[in-house]
Amino acid sequence: MVLKKKPAEPWPVITGEYEVGNPESPVAVVTCGSHLNNAELVAAGAALAGPCKTENIGIEKMVANVISNPNIRYLIITGMEVKGHITGQAIEAFTASGIDKEGRIVGAKGAIPFIQNLTPEAIERWRQQITTINMIDTEDMGAITAKIKELVAKDPGALDVEPMIVEIK
Ligand code: LMR
Repeated sequence: MVLKKKPAEPWPVITGEYEVGNPESPVAVVTCGSHLNNAELVAAGAALAGPCKTENIGIEKMVANVISNPNIRYLIITGMEVKGHITGQAIEAFTASGIDKEGRIVGAKGAIPFIQNLTPEAIERWRQQITTINMIDTEDMGAITAKIKELVAKDPGALDVEPMIVEIK
């Protein structure tokens, strides 16, 4: 049995259009601009599944919900890329490189990829906790649910830290 941690109570900490599954699952799914069947994604084993439209507040809310649950180790980035915002790419860039002194996600191609509500510690936690899996522009539920199951099967266990709570204004 791999390490499991108790997420924040209540968890998730920020409301949204997502569906919640097993809080001990190591997988979260972000469907970018697509409205997929999130219930089916959590039934396949995801802890959390839902869209993220914007490359600023949307990412901040997603980060808040993930770092408040150290069990989540993988983020599948899927669904159709959001036009203008290019949110899926921004999530990858954020995870790879964080933000610059002005709060801009390094390497993000979207219109306004500015992070304002996450502390350096929160960003560091995300980058330590999460490995992204790029399935951007896929809406193939068979492929996505297969990837969820594959990642659940190789669960590395929780990051051995306490849940981090961030406030999104
Ligand atoms: C998003 O990017 O999906 C968010 O802006 C939606 C929200 O709840 O603010």
